[in-house]
Amino acid sequence: MCDAKLSLREVSSAYIHNGRILPVLDTISMQVKEGEFVSLLGPSGSGKSTLLKIIAGLIKPDAGSVFLNGKELKGTIVKMGYMPQKDLLLPWKPLLYNAALPLLAQGTGKKEAYNKVRELLPVFGLEGFENSYPSQLSGGMRQRAALLRTVLIDSEVMLLDEPFGALDALTRERLQEWMLKIWDHFKRSVIFVTHSIDEAIYLSDRIYMISELPGKIVLEQAINLPRPRARDIVLSPLFTEYKQNLMTALANETTWGNS
Ligand SMILES: Nc1ncnc2c1ncn2[C@@H]1O[C@H](COP(=O)(O)OP(=O)(O)OP(=O)(O)O)[C@@H](O)[C@H]1O
Ligand SMILES: [Mg+2]
Repeated sequence: MCDAKLSLREVSSAYIHNGRILPVLDTISMQVKEGEFVSLLGPSGSGKSTLLKIIAGLIKPDAGSVFLNGKELKGTIVKMGYMPQKDLLLPWKPLLYNAALPLLAQGTGKKEAYNKVRELLPVFGLEGFENSYPSQLSGGMRQRAALLRTVLIDSEVMLLDEPFGALDALTRERLQEWMLKIWDHFKRSVIFVTHSIDEAIYLSDRIYMISELPGKIVLEQAINLPRPRARDIVLSPLFTEYKQNLMTALANETTWGNS
């Protein structure tokens, strides 16, 4: 049917809110190729998290289909590396357990699960913190721990819902650079949700922009910046051109302008 790793065909979804139907997603079609980094950019409340939950199989869409490797996912349980908008680390458990949780839940033995986590701790800059509780970790470390947990699920697609949304600008930039290294290392297809135009351009091969409710894809923008990307690529004329394009599209699509 198509050569995409993941594709959505005319997905629509609504919630019931105060007894009324609230349409949230309107005929969303998009694709992610093998190993591609795709961002979903849009204003708050535009249905981005809902879309990720549909792809992860947590919500059933009212219409449309999701395909993985050309096969429709019809209530099929597939392993998706899904990182929800909140890191959801258990405060009363140490990092080692928190990171191993999805493996343990899948029935992997404790020893094997812990060994897999320990192997990855240095890659995620968390070596020496395996016995720390979430409250003893910085915001950036917690996000890295949540990402480690997502990567551990041996899935073909990673769904990341605003993983850096709550961080200060400097930490966020550092994690973006690190994210690109991780992505290069694990070679997974990624859907990355963000509000930030700069973050989306810096990280992505392609960006889908979604409108305010009901969320519709209003722009698909390929990002042809060379890789690997150094930080100063944000100063290049091509980066600025993409940014201008996306800012204009966002301003046209939101009632609150391009803030
Ligand atoms: N479980 C639910 N029941 C009813 N309405 C919901 C539910 N979850 C989300 N909504 C509504 O659906 C709309 C889209 O929510 P969603 O969380 O998908 O947006 P979002 O784009 O991820 O927002 P943000 O960028 O702020 O995270 C919002 O208006 C929200 O109030
Ligand atoms: Mg959200």
